[in-house]
Amino acid sequence: MRQTTDHDRQTAITRARYNRIAPLYDAVEWFTEHTAFGAWRQQLWTGVPAGRVLEVGVGTGKNLPFYPPGAQMTAIDLSERMLARARRRAAALGARVDLRLMDVQHLEFPDNAFDAAVTTFVFCSVPDPVAGLRELGRVVRPGGDIWLLEHMRVDRPFVGSLMDLLNPLVVRVMGANINRRTVENVQLAGLKLVAVEELRGELVRLIHASGSLSDQPDAPSLRGC
Ligand SMILES: C[S@@+](CC[C@H](N)C(=O)[O-])C[C@H]1O[C@@H](n2cnc3c(N)ncnc32)[C@H](O)[C@@H]1O
Repeated sequence: MRQTTDHDRQTAITRARYNRIAPLYDAVEWFTEHTAFGAWRQQLWTGVPAGRVLEVGVGTGKNLPFYPPGAQMTAIDLSERMLARARRRAAALGARVDLRLMDVQHLEFPDNAFDAAVTTFVFCSVPDPVAGLRELGRVVRPGGDIWLLEHMRVDRPFVGSLMDLLNPLVVRVMGANINRRTVENVQLAGLKLVAVEELRGELVRLIHASGSLSDQPDAPSLRGC
Protein backbone atom coordinates (compact mmCIF):
# COMPACT_ATOMS: atom_id res chain seq x y z
CA MET A 1 0.00 0.00 0.00
CA ARG A 2 1.25 3.51 -0.90
CA GLN A 3 2.39 5.69 2.01
CA THR A 4 0.62 9.03 2.53
CA THR A 5 3.05 11.72 1.43
CA ASP A 6 3.33 15.37 2.36
CA HIS A 7 1.91 16.18 -1.09
CA ASP A 8 -1.14 14.02 -0.33
CA ARG A 9 -1.67 15.96 2.89
CA GLN A 10 -1.22 19.28 1.09
CA THR A 11 -3.66 18.16 -1.61
CA ALA A 12 -6.28 17.30 1.03
CA ILE A 13 -5.75 20.72 2.65
CA THR A 14 -6.12 22.44 -0.75
CA ARG A 15 -9.35 20.55 -1.47
CA ALA A 16 -10.80 21.42 1.94
CA ARG A 17 -9.79 25.07 1.53
CA TYR A 18 -11.51 25.44 -1.86
CA ASN A 19 -14.57 23.61 -0.60
CA ARG A 20 -14.71 26.15 2.20
CA ILE A 21 -14.27 29.26 0.04
CA ALA A 22 -16.45 28.09 -2.89
CA PRO A 23 -19.56 30.04 -1.79
CA LEU A 24 -17.53 33.28 -1.53
CA TYR A 25 -15.13 32.80 -4.43
CA ASP A 26 -16.96 34.77 -7.12
CA ALA A 27 -17.76 37.65 -4.77
CA VAL A 28 -14.15 37.92 -3.54
CA GLU A 29 -12.83 37.91 -7.11
CA TRP A 30 -15.49 40.27 -8.49
CA PHE A 31 -13.30 43.38 -8.73
CA THR A 32 -10.21 41.74 -10.27
CA GLU A 33 -12.42 39.73 -12.61
CA HIS A 34 -14.00 42.88 -14.01
CA THR A 35 -10.85 45.01 -14.12
CA ALA A 36 -8.31 42.49 -15.45
CA PHE A 37 -8.96 38.75 -15.33
CA GLY A 38 -11.92 38.79 -17.73
CA ALA A 39 -9.89 40.45 -20.50
CA TRP A 40 -6.96 38.08 -19.95
CA ARG A 41 -9.25 35.06 -20.14
CA GLN A 42 -10.65 36.34 -23.43
CA GLN A 43 -7.12 36.81 -24.80
CA LEU A 44 -6.11 33.28 -23.77
CA TRP A 45 -9.16 31.52 -25.18
CA THR A 46 -8.87 33.33 -28.51
CA GLY A 47 -5.80 31.18 -29.15
CA VAL A 48 -7.37 27.85 -28.20
CA PRO A 49 -8.39 25.67 -31.15
CA ALA A 50 -11.72 23.86 -31.25
CA GLY A 51 -10.59 20.28 -30.69
CA ARG A 52 -10.53 18.04 -27.62
CA VAL A 53 -9.78 20.58 -24.88
CA LEU A 54 -9.11 19.99 -21.17
CA GLU A 55 -9.55 22.75 -18.61
CA VAL A 56 -7.80 22.02 -15.32
CA GLY A 57 -8.98 23.72 -12.12
CA VAL A 58 -12.26 24.91 -13.64
CA GLY A 59 -13.26 26.43 -10.29
CA THR A 60 -16.69 28.05 -10.42
CA GLY A 61 -16.57 28.00 -14.22
CA LYS A 62 -15.42 31.52 -15.04
CA ASN A 63 -13.87 30.37 -18.31
CA LEU A 64 -17.04 28.67 -19.55
CA PRO A 65 -18.29 31.70 -21.52
CA PHE A 66 -15.00 31.71 -23.47
CA TYR A 67 -14.91 28.04 -24.54
CA PRO A 68 -14.32 27.78 -28.30
CA PRO A 69 -17.55 27.01 -30.18
CA GLY A 70 -17.51 23.41 -31.33
CA ALA A 71 -14.77 22.31 -28.92
CA GLN A 72 -15.15 18.98 -27.15
CA MET A 73 -14.68 20.30 -23.61
CA THR A 74 -13.67 18.38 -20.49
CA ALA A 75 -13.00 20.25 -17.25
CA ILE A 76 -11.76 19.00 -13.89
CA ASP A 77 -11.37 20.34 -10.38
CA LEU A 78 -10.12 19.03 -7.06
CA SER A 79 -12.94 20.61 -5.07
CA GLU A 80 -16.46 19.18 -5.29
CA ARG A 81 -17.98 22.47 -4.13
CA MET A 82 -16.18 24.55 -6.76
CA LEU A 83 -17.22 21.95 -9.33
CA ALA A 84 -20.86 22.12 -8.20
CA ARG A 85 -20.81 25.85 -8.97
CA ALA A 86 -19.25 25.19 -12.38
CA ARG A 87 -22.07 22.69 -13.06
CA ARG A 88 -24.67 25.33 -12.24
CA ARG A 89 -22.92 27.89 -14.46
CA ALA A 90 -22.67 25.38 -17.32
CA ALA A 91 -26.40 24.64 -17.03
CA ALA A 92 -27.25 28.35 -16.97
CA LEU A 93 -25.10 29.00 -20.06
CA GLY A 94 -26.17 25.83 -21.86
CA ALA A 95 -22.45 24.97 -22.16
CA ARG A 96 -21.56 21.42 -23.20
CA VAL A 97 -18.73 20.30 -20.95
CA ASP A 98 -17.86 17.06 -19.21
CA LEU A 99 -17.14 18.18 -15.62
CA ARG A 100 -15.18 15.78 -13.41
CA LEU A 101 -13.72 15.66 -9.92
CA MET A 102 -10.01 14.95 -10.41
CA ASP A 103 -6.52 15.89 -9.27
CA VAL A 104 -4.19 17.27 -11.96
CA GLN A 105 -1.30 15.49 -10.25
CA HIS A 106 -2.95 12.13 -11.11
CA LEU A 107 -5.11 12.56 -14.20
CA GLU A 108 -7.39 9.63 -15.02
CA PHE A 109 -7.12 10.15 -18.79
CA PRO A 110 -5.08 8.09 -21.26
CA ASP A 111 -2.01 9.49 -22.99
CA ASN A 112 -2.69 11.93 -25.85
CA ALA A 113 -6.38 12.24 -24.95
CA PHE A 114 -6.52 15.99 -25.71
CA ASP A 115 -5.44 18.45 -28.38
CA ALA A 116 -5.04 21.28 -25.88
CA ALA A 117 -5.16 22.07 -22.16
CA VAL A 118 -5.83 25.32 -20.31
CA THR A 119 -5.34 26.46 -16.73
CA THR A 120 -6.07 29.86 -15.20
CA PHE A 121 -4.76 30.71 -11.72
CA VAL A 122 -4.38 27.05 -10.74
CA PHE A 123 -0.70 26.15 -10.38
CA CYS A 124 -0.23 28.50 -7.41
CA SER A 125 -2.20 26.02 -5.31
CA VAL A 126 -1.24 22.61 -6.73
CA PRO A 127 1.09 21.03 -4.12
CA ASP A 128 3.41 19.47 -6.71
CA PRO A 129 3.13 21.75 -9.76
CA VAL A 130 5.77 19.91 -11.78
CA ALA A 131 3.89 16.61 -11.33
CA GLY A 132 0.71 18.36 -12.53
CA LEU A 133 2.47 19.91 -15.51
CA ARG A 134 3.96 16.54 -16.45
CA GLU A 135 0.46 15.09 -16.40
CA LEU A 136 -0.64 17.81 -18.85
CA GLY A 137 2.28 16.83 -21.06
CA ARG A 138 1.13 13.22 -20.93
CA VAL A 139 -2.56 13.74 -21.73
CA VAL A 140 -2.05 16.42 -24.41
CA ARG A 141 -0.90 14.96 -27.71
CA PRO A 142 2.62 15.82 -28.90
CA GLY A 143 2.49 19.22 -30.56
CA GLY A 144 -0.79 20.11 -28.81
CA ASP A 145 -1.14 23.44 -27.01
CA ILE A 146 -0.93 24.06 -23.27
CA TRP A 147 -1.99 27.51 -22.10
CA LEU A 148 -1.37 28.74 -18.57
CA LEU A 149 -2.58 32.09 -17.23
CA GLU A 150 -0.87 32.25 -13.85
CA HIS A 151 0.52 34.63 -11.26
CA MET A 152 4.07 33.84 -10.16
CA ARG A 153 7.25 35.01 -8.50
CA VAL A 154 8.76 38.24 -9.81
CA ASP A 155 12.36 37.56 -10.79
CA ARG A 156 13.84 40.74 -9.29
CA PRO A 157 16.07 40.57 -6.22
CA PHE A 158 14.13 42.66 -3.69
CA VAL A 159 10.56 41.90 -4.80
CA GLY A 160 11.33 38.21 -5.33
CA SER A 161 12.88 37.85 -1.87
CA LEU A 162 9.94 39.68 -0.30
CA MET A 163 7.54 37.28 -2.03
CA ASP A 164 9.60 34.34 -0.68
CA LEU A 165 9.43 35.83 2.81
CA LEU A 166 5.68 36.46 2.72
CA ASN A 167 4.77 33.21 0.98
CA PRO A 168 4.23 31.01 4.09
CA LEU A 169 1.86 33.61 5.53
CA VAL A 170 -0.08 34.03 2.27
CA VAL A 171 -0.36 30.25 1.86
CA ARG A 172 -1.74 29.98 5.37
CA VAL A 173 -4.31 32.74 4.87
CA MET A 174 -5.27 32.36 1.19
CA GLY A 175 -3.98 28.93 0.17
CA ALA A 176 -2.09 30.23 -2.88
CA ASN A 177 1.69 30.34 -3.23
CA ILE A 178 2.85 33.73 -4.46
CA ASN A 179 6.40 32.64 -5.29
CA ARG A 180 5.92 29.83 -7.79
CA ARG A 181 8.45 29.79 -10.64
CA THR A 182 5.91 28.55 -13.12
CA VAL A 183 7.90 29.25 -16.28
CA GLU A 184 10.81 27.18 -14.94
CA ASN A 185 8.40 24.51 -13.70
CA VAL A 186 6.98 24.17 -17.22
CA GLN A 187 10.49 23.43 -18.46
CA LEU A 188 11.26 21.12 -15.51
CA ALA A 189 8.14 19.16 -16.43
CA GLY A 190 9.62 18.53 -19.86
CA LEU A 191 7.17 20.71 -21.78
CA LYS A 192 8.34 22.86 -24.64
CA LEU A 193 8.02 26.58 -23.97
CA VAL A 194 6.52 28.32 -27.01
CA ALA A 195 5.99 31.86 -25.66
CA VAL A 196 5.63 33.79 -22.43
CA GLU A 197 3.74 37.07 -22.36
CA GLU A 198 3.87 39.40 -19.36
CA LEU A 199 0.37 40.69 -18.66
CA ARG A 200 1.03 42.51 -15.37
CA GLY A 201 4.82 42.78 -15.45
CA GLU A 202 6.34 39.48 -14.38
CA LEU A 203 3.60 38.96 -11.80
CA VAL A 204 0.95 37.62 -14.18
CA ARG A 205 2.07 35.82 -17.32
CA LEU A 206 0.38 33.98 -20.14
CA ILE A 207 2.46 30.90 -20.92
CA HIS A 208 2.07 28.99 -24.16
CA ALA A 209 3.74 25.59 -24.05
CA SER A 210 3.60 22.58 -26.26
CA GLY A 211 2.60 19.10 -25.19
CA SER A 212 5.80 17.55 -26.31
CA LEU A 213 7.54 15.61 -23.55
CA SER A 214 11.22 16.36 -23.86
CA ASP A 215 14.23 14.54 -22.49
CA GLN A 216 13.98 15.51 -18.80
CA PRO A 217 11.84 12.73 -17.27
CA ASP A 218 13.78 12.75 -14.01
CA ALA A 219 13.79 16.48 -13.52
CA PRO A 220 13.39 17.59 -9.90
CA SER A 221 9.82 17.94 -8.85
CA LEU A 222 9.49 21.41 -7.30
CA ARG A 223 10.97 24.87 -7.64
CA GLY A 224 10.51 27.99 -5.65
CA CYS A 225 8.29 27.06 -2.76
C1 LIG B 1 -7.76 30.17 -7.74
S1 LIG B 1 -8.90 28.95 -8.25
C2 LIG B 1 -9.04 29.33 -9.99
C3 LIG B 1 -10.34 28.81 -10.58
C4 LIG B 1 -10.54 29.11 -12.08
N1 LIG B 1 -9.54 28.47 -12.89
C5 LIG B 1 -10.54 30.59 -12.33
O1 LIG B 1 -9.76 31.07 -13.16
O2 LIG B 1 -11.37 31.28 -11.71
C6 LIG B 1 -7.93 27.47 -8.28
C7 LIG B 1 -8.73 26.24 -8.62
O3 LIG B 1 -7.81 25.15 -8.84
C8 LIG B 1 -8.33 24.00 -8.21
N2 LIG B 1 -7.22 23.11 -7.90
C9 LIG B 1 -6.25 23.28 -6.97
N3 LIG B 1 -5.42 22.21 -6.94
C10 LIG B 1 -5.88 21.35 -7.87
C11 LIG B 1 -5.46 20.06 -8.30
N4 LIG B 1 -4.42 19.45 -7.73
N5 LIG B 1 -6.15 19.44 -9.28
C12 LIG B 1 -7.24 20.05 -9.85
N6 LIG B 1 -7.69 21.28 -9.47
C13 LIG B 1 -7.01 21.92 -8.50
C14 LIG B 1 -9.03 24.54 -6.96
O4 LIG B 1 -9.96 23.62 -6.43
C15 LIG B 1 -9.67 25.81 -7.50
O5 LIG B 1 -10.95 25.57 -8.03
